[in-house]
Amino acid sequence: MQRHESLRPLSRDHHLALRYANRLVALADAEGHGLARHWSDIRLRFARYWSEALAPHFGEEEDALPWEYLDPDWRERLLDDHHRIGTLFRHLMASAVADTGVLRELGRRLGAHARWEEQELFRVFQERVPAGALARVAAKLAHGHERLTDLGWLPPRLTPN
Ligand SMILES: [Fe+2]
Ligand SMILES: [Fe+2]
Repeated sequence: MQRHESLRPLSRDHHLALRYANRLVALADAEGHGLARHWSDIRLRFARYWSEALAPHFGEEEDALPWEYLDPDWRERLLDDHHRIGTLFRHLMASAVADTGVLRELGRRLGAHARWEEQELFRVFQERVPAGALARVAAKLAHGHERLTDLGWLPPRLTPN
């Protein structure tokens, strides 16, 4: 299904979130290949991605989407996912040592969440929400946060030397 134009800014964020999620799982697999040495740099990138991209994105979904057209279970699932992902991010940002179990869980949860929104949640929005209400979403997102355009926030790809 083609994405409605009002939801495209969020879908573009999801495209990047999936890249981020894959990189997190790859980092977890890179234990022993410089993960400990690069950890302080990686934590800084986490902090930037969280504060400038993911937390504002979560806020937009929670506040700007027309939830009144959907069963409350959809929003509860979204809030629960956001809470769990935020908790994992904060745990990593506060960790002096890389925790590969948390990295892997965060990567998997973030990827699964973005796929659920793209494949299920947004499809339901497009099916159930009248065009006028979707247009109001576009207006709200247009006044939202500035989106990251460089990839400096992406964790590095660590490979065996
Ligand atoms: Fe979300
Ligand atoms: Fe999202």
